[in-house]
Amino acid sequence: MEDRIRLFRPTFGDAEKKALCDTIDSRWVGRGPQTIKFEERFSKYIGSSYAVSLNSATAALHLGLLCAEVEGQEVLTSTMTFVSSTEAILLAGGRPVFCDVEPDTLNISVDDMARKITPTTRAVIITHYGGQSCDMNSILELAAEHGLSVIEDAAHGCGGSYQGRALGSMGTIGCFSFQATKNMTTGEGGMLVTDDESIAQRVRKLRWCGITSPTWERFKVDQVQRGWMYDVEEVGWKYEMNDLAAALGLAQMDRLEDCNQRRRELMDRYRRAFADIDGIDMLASRDYAVSSCYNAVVHLDNREGLFTHLDTCGIDSNVHFYPNHLFRIFRPYTTHLPVAEREWQRILSIPLYPDLTDGEQDRVIDAVRVFAHADTDHQSAVAG
Ligand SMILES: Cc1ncc(COP(=O)(O)O)c(C=O)c1O
Repeated sequence: MEDRIRLFRPTFGDAEKKALCDTIDSRWVGRGPQTIKFEERFSKYIGSSYAVSLNSATAALHLGLLCAEVEGQEVLTSTMTFVSSTEAILLAGGRPVFCDVEPDTLNISVDDMARKITPTTRAVIITHYGGQSCDMNSILELAAEHGLSVIEDAAHGCGGSYQGRALGSMGTIGCFSFQATKNMTTGEGGMLVTDDESIAQRVRKLRWCGITSPTWERFKVDQVQRGWMYDVEEVGWKYEMNDLAAALGLAQMDRLEDCNQRRRELMDRYRRAFADIDGIDMLASRDYAVSSCYNAVVHLDNREGLFTHLDTCGIDSNVHFYPNHLFRIFRPYTTHLPVAEREWQRILSIPLYPDLTDGEQDRVIDAVRVFAHADTDHQSAVAG
């Protein structure tokens, strides 16, 4: 019996084990020197002036929206995103305004965004779906015209770019996820990047209960300073990253480019393998983007059939995402979004991760091809 092929799988090696053991041996596992190192390295990598580590991208989105002062205001967002991205708008007191997507990339439709801007629109969250950039020039132009903050949800986008600029570095704020399935992982974790010093400073406070100076700095800077000597200026959250996660993040950064290269090779192999099958496409890629290839999505009419077939072949698959405007919690904000409502029923994410071997990928490809031919024969028989 062959092993089941998972949808996502993190890549870890001896470097990650050593990083964790060294941090444990140091006896400093809370936020401290590893976290600072990780932030410095990440901000350089992305090309943003500041990087603030957090325990998730959800936290980055929440705090980013608070800094964008969206309370009582409208925030445009794509419906094809993870639910926490939209929940963050409610957490920050804003009002989500759902936008439709491009049918072939599932990224936010700039035309629909433009139609939905009102005098109370304050910000836009754009999700780089699957790690492929949204149409940034058009988005940044529209946002500048209407004075909107742009929050990039780059949860899928670590290592992706738009016309040579890193995803996450182009908006007012960029939000990254290091959750278990992402291109690099710290188990759970996130990063907020920005060029705005005042935003970085506020997020540093808000991530730890509104406290003005972190424990590590108080111990390091002045050994005689009393540990309780800090101030609290506003209510914050317990959203900080710890040194175990940061040590893992640093080790993951060492392999990120190689891992993303392998993801791109696997994606190209899928594209070539399915090119001659009628009725099965991969999501489109755009010339302006280098994708980080977070997930591989096939586009087909009989999504349910393919899901069941892959399952019986021992292959995991999943749908990213159920359109957010159809969730019960967002009913007060719901609207009709014809493209997302049609296309979400035609998508299926199939296995993609750097350690997927060519042989395992061939099993996935064969399973998709067998299904496609059987499905075509079935359709012809029904039609005949
Ligand atoms: C598009 C998108 N945004 C945000 C998130 C939230 O990330 P995290 O789990 O780090 O909070 C995810 C997680 O899967 C995601 O896919």
